[in-house]
Parts: sequence; structure tokens; C-alpha cells
Amino acid sequence: FSLKKYNSFGIDVTAKYFAAFDSVTTLQAALEAYSNNILVLGGGSNILFTQHFDGLVLKNEIAGIERVKEDDDFVWVKAGAGVSWHAFVLYCIAHGLAGVENLSLIPGSVGASPMQNIGAYGVEIKDVFESLEAYHLHDKTMVTFNNAACAFGYRESVFKNKYKHQFVITTVTYRLRKQPIFNTSYGAIETALQTMGVTTLSIKAISDAVIGIRKSKLPDPQVIGNAGSFFKNPTVPTAQFESLKTTFPAIVGYKVDDQQTKLAAGWLIEQCGFKGYREGDAGCHAQQALVLVNYGHADGNAILQLSEKIIESVAQKFGVMLQREVNIV
Ligand code: EPU
Repeated sequence: FSLKKYNSFGIDVTAKYFAAFDSVTTLQAALEAYSNNILVLGGGSNILFTQHFDGLVLKNEIAGIERVKEDDDFVWVKAGAGVSWHAFVLYCIAHGLAGVENLSLIPGSVGASPMQNIGAYGVEIKDVFESLEAYHLHDKTMVTFNNAACAFGYRESVFKNKYKHQFVITTVTYRLRKQPIFNTSYGAIETALQTMGVTTLSIKAISDAVIGIRKSKLPDPQVIGNAGSFFKNPTVPTAQFESLKTTFPAIVGYKVDDQQTKLAAGWLIEQCGFKGYREGDAGCHAQQALVLVNYGHADGNAILQLSEKIIESVAQKFGVMLQREVNIV
């Protein structure tokens, strides 16, 4: 079974078995038929296949968006894990529910959003996350996780760490605001709003600004295979940042706390000469060096090798080790 359509990198690998499920019942039925070697896919937008998968790939297609509760300030909305993330954002905007507009146009599914605490333009999913329901593959029971139980961090959660491969997320509930608190802290948003001639802020205007910025920098996976940022932005001790700054005055860093600074990995990679670099069909995006791309027929190993080359080069020049954000299978 070809997985080419099911991973945003467009890598042409196969799975021995493939099944889609749209409920816990159909998930259980699939697992009863086969449960040796399982891989659950959401939107497939944060994964790099480097080989064929010798097991069952389960595609999460649990649908539905439902308003479950509200009070004076908030509305709680529960969405099926298989709903496309951007479709959920558009639902919120159409219903005047604020909190996810900065996260417009992120590829992938609702179920993947808590997995790696997706974030962009000053907002992370943890800011609006209420709870999720997940099926435990071994115990065969449903478990509810609240915000604290997910142990969210920068592109991290308990599902990428302690509970890796143990749960299938089935629904996610978000807490959205009736009165928006606009977050335009990210400079490019202000610029985009000005260019668009926006005078009165709205969640729709912010969403449109974010969509414009993303389209200008990030390749559309339908056109050029990619999985968004391939690496995380590394956090280093501020003392190390200061010392790097004496050698590289233009280095880009953001204060995390009194001791730590987050570096822009895209800048580090660009300085090593990789921006726009291409080896066969594997490349480093010309508008955003943090994004690795498949121009057509690259296999996963070509992309992986390019990422290794980048990691080595950045380590040599700056003494900083980049970590991958994308899951390698
Ligand atoms: N930069 C360069 N060269 C590049 C790319 C970036 O010099 O090729 C510099 C820019 O000049 C800027 C800084 O790096 O000063 C930050 O760049 P950008 O705003 O494009 O964001 P990023 O740090 O590269 C992160 C997220 C993105 C998210 C944006 C916006 C990570 C790993 N990535 O990228 O998330 O959309 O911020 O908030 O944190 C994703 O995770 O897949 C993703 C796209």
C-alpha cells in the first residue's frame, strides 16, 4: 500500500497493511485483526519515512466538531482527531471563537496538535487546550488528559516522550474566547496587517495576515513535499549566546528566561550556506532554511542525510547541536 499521499514530504514508501478508522469501535476492530507493529498517522505532516513500513498503518479519520460547553467568557469545542487542523481554525473564525487565529494554515490534524504542542506567531496549542481523550493500545481503555497531564513544552508533550506509541488520540477539546485577546507580538503580523490596510483588528484579519506570511515563506506541501520546520530552534545558555554574538554580531536569539536564549535555527543554517541548497531532489527551502523539501523523487534517506550534513555544519561553525522536530520512521 503506497503511503506517498499520506505523508506531506511525499516520500514514496509502502506499508504492509493500511486501514482508516473513524471511531473507537472501528479502531478496535482494526487492532483485533492486526496489532503487532502499528503506526498511527494523522495528517502525516511531521514525519519522514526512510524505509517501507512492515506493519499496519492506521489513518485517523475521526470527524466532527461540537460545541460542548460555554460560560460568559469561553466556549469549549470538541473536535475529532481526524479533523484537519486548518478546517478547525476556520470553524472557530466563522463562529467568532478566538485563540487559534495565529495558528492558521498549519498542516496536519487536530489529533496531532497536542502531540507536539504546535505553535506559531506567538501562540501555542497549550494556550487554548482544555483536554483530550485517547485510547490506550495496550490496556484497551479510554483515558482523559487535562492540560497539565500533557506536560506541554516547546514542540513537546508526554505523547512524544513518556507515552510514545502508547495512545491514539481520539478527540481534543479546546477552550476558545468569546472576546478575543489579539496577539500581534510577532513583528511580521503587524507588517502584514499594515500592508493589507487593516484598521480594525479582528480574528479574521489576523488569520489572513498569518496565511499571507506562511504562504510567502513556507512551501505548500501539495506542490513541494515538506514537513514544515525540520529542526527545532535550539535553546542555549545566554552566556553562550553572548559569546557567539561577539563573533557573529547578527546572530538571531530570543530571551527564554534569565539564563536561556533561543536561537533561530534558520539563521544558523543559512549562515552555513544551505539556504536554497539542493542535492538531487532533496533540498533546503530557498525562502526558509529551517524547512527541508522534497522536489519530487527524493527518498527519506536523502533528506535524512542532508539533515545530518546540516547538523554537522552548524555544530562545526557555531558549536550548537540542532535537534530534529520531525519524527523519523
Ligand atoms: N531566519 C533566517 N534565515 C532563514 C530562516 C529564518 O535568518 O532561512 C531568521 C529570520 O530572519 C528570523 C528568525 O530566523 O529572524 C525566525 O524566523 P521565522 O520567523 O521564519 O521563524 P522560525 O523560528 O524559523 C518558527 C517555528 C515555525 C513557525 C514560526 C513562526 C520552530 C521550529 N518553527 O520558525 O513553525 O511557523 O516560528 O512562529 O519553532 C513548524 O514548526 O513546522 C513551523 C513552521
